[in-house]
Amino acid sequence: MTNLTIKIGQTVFKNPVFVASGTFGYGTEINDLTDISALGAIITKSITLHPREGNPPPRTIETLGGMINSIGLANMGVDNYIRDMLPLYHQFPTKIIVNIAGSTMEEYLQVLKKFESVSSNITGYEINISCPNVKEGGMAFGVNADFTARLTEQLRSLTQRLLIVKLSPNVTDITQIGKAAQRAGADAVSAINTLVGMSIDSTTRKSNIYTTYGGLSGPAIKPVALACVHKLFLKLKIPVIGIGGITNVSDAIEFALAGAVAFQVGTANFRDPDIGRKIVYELDDYCTQNNLKYSDLKGQVIRYQ
Ligand SMILES: Cc1cc2nc3c(=O)[nH]c(=O)nc-3n(C[C@H](O)[C@H](O)[C@H](O)COP(=O)(O)O)c2cc1C
Repeated sequence: MTNLTIKIGQTVFKNPVFVASGTFGYGTEINDLTDISALGAIITKSITLHPREGNPPPRTIETLGGMINSIGLANMGVDNYIRDMLPLYHQFPTKIIVNIAGSTMEEYLQVLKKFESVSSNITGYEINISCPNVKEGGMAFGVNADFTARLTEQLRSLTQRLLIVKLSPNVTDITQIGKAAQRAGADAVSAINTLVGMSIDSTTRKSNIYTTYGGLSGPAIKPVALACVHKLFLKLKIPVIGIGGITNVSDAIEFALAGAVAFQVGTANFRDPDIGRKIVYELDDYCTQNNLKYSDLKGQVIRYQ
């Protein structure tokens, strides 16, 4: 599988196939359903300062070509995670990237500080900046370039590990947020998180999601994700990790052509938890047959203008 190795910052990954936050648990639960050693990396579900129950049900609904979720960052909280999960990653067969979320800047910083204060073999962090920022007036970090830069800068000063900023598509210009993250020292950006969506039962007239709005994911968002990745690729110097509706090897190739150095498989894991491993093998076959490396495809889309 020599065709598949990629580098992000100073870190070499055995392949570009990662699994996306919130769709693969903490990375330890799915051992029996797939060979996790085949994956390039696992991104954990978002970890917050305090444990969170998440939103009340219903919090997921299937839609045409995708799903809407409003899980609300349910997770065990950083202290429990450090105590119970981190030891399990010793001699883990793939790289672990911890996804961090918070509702204030201080929360993000405290979570990262806690991780940095213990010894562990995690590879780095993916920062989920699409959460409501209560202290700063109900805005989300991810929609504001200044917040993004300030947060990234602070986090950067606290860690030498790989720092990836995960971008929201629910913005006017995703490249402005990406540039802010780059300026402040992020090693890479990942794009995209879910799009705001809504689903209604026409018979009962009820919202299908308790919180009325949720995050749309799955194949329905792939064209949006590809456009975001391509725009970021054109404007940024740091690598872009593609996310959004990837279900097979040709999706993975499309993301490379749009400019992604690596990609994450999300919603597709719910249908088939083994899908990431399958894509690794299919991608290896594709690269061997075409005598190229995955990285050779980066940004090579042929455009009309
Ligand atoms: C049920 C569910 C839970 C998610 N939880 C998180 C999360 O905790 N943190 C995060 O950054 N992204 C989360 N996401 C977003 C995914 O990581 C990914 O960015 C998005 O779903 C788009 O990729 P996909 O179309 O392949 O699913 C979640 C997505 C789903 C479907």
